[in-house]
Amino acid sequence: MKVLIATVKPFAMVAIEGIRQECEAAGYELALLERYTEKQQLLEAVADVDALIVRSDIVDKDVFDAAKQLKIVVRAGAGYDNIDLDEATAHNVCVMNTPGQNSNAVSELAFGLMIMAVRNFYDGKPGIELKGRKLGIHAYGNVGRNVARIAKGFGMDIYAYDAYCSKEVMEADGVHPIEKVEDLYKTCQIVSLHLPMTSETKESVNYDLVNLMPRNGLLVNTARKEVVNEMDLLRLLNDRLDLRYVTDIKPNYHDEFVHNYPGRYFSTPKKMGAQTSEANINAGIAAARQIVGYLKEGCEKFRLNK
Ligand code: 3PG
Repeated sequence: MKVLIATVKPFAMVAIEGIRQECEAAGYELALLERYTEKQQLLEAVADVDALIVRSDIVDKDVFDAAKQLKIVVRAGAGYDNIDLDEATAHNVCVMNTPGQNSNAVSELAFGLMIMAVRNFYDGKPGIELKGRKLGIHAYGNVGRNVARIAKGFGMDIYAYDAYCSKEVMEADGVHPIEKVEDLYKTCQIVSLHLPMTSETKESVNYDLVNLMPRNGLLVNTARKEVVNEMDLLRLLNDRLDLRYVTDIKPNYHDEFVHNYPGRYFSTPKKMGAQTSEANINAGIAAARQIVGYLKEGCEKFRLNK
């Protein structure tokens, strides 16, 4: 069996070594395609592989067509909006993710962005502290829960909205559950996004919603750029000079944000949330183990497609 790691944004070396050990212990060969720039490179590399490990890399019909022996793809991470699940099913390929494995890394970065913004991007002027501030967590999955855990250490007053999570789970974490998403934005000066990108969430963070935020509102996005309606946000930042936006996912309209809203906007140049050695090791090794479990024992835990 041959396993390919195909990552535009490479894992830490130590994670690759861990994945290699898992594969070799199972008697599998490991191949590596890192920092590829053309889709064609991926199409050629998948031609003879049985299993594929990716991150945010696009795995579409062309990839499945080119990968004649492919049996399983594991997205080493949480969000799987980069993988065409219907095509996977049509090609008889199992798709999995590794939920929770990189969530601490992402949530720590949310605070990195938050502190940078509330300290005015370190421009020397007095900022504000997180202690006692109302924090809104939009979607209470693995990352949202880690954000709540860290926010407690900062002494923040924590609120969360999640249509799919019970209020008992939030209350057990010391988080105030919010029933209507609008109320989260009305209540909290800082809102941190942790939504997956789906047809339901796409562009759902729009003008009307963010405009509900109190004065000096700060929106933090370590989720996906697509969940925010960028045109709306551009318009809103123009209409409300008190609002700020910090994101780990460079928007399509990055240049407009930079040009029009200096001092109120920041984006990391590359998505860095999950880019720690620990997250790479956790997600990468989990991916390798899931592949071995599926190929040797038919274990389908974490399977995403039918
Ligand atoms: C995820 O969905 O797991 C995170 O957004 C991390 O994505 P990455 O592996 O592309 O950094």
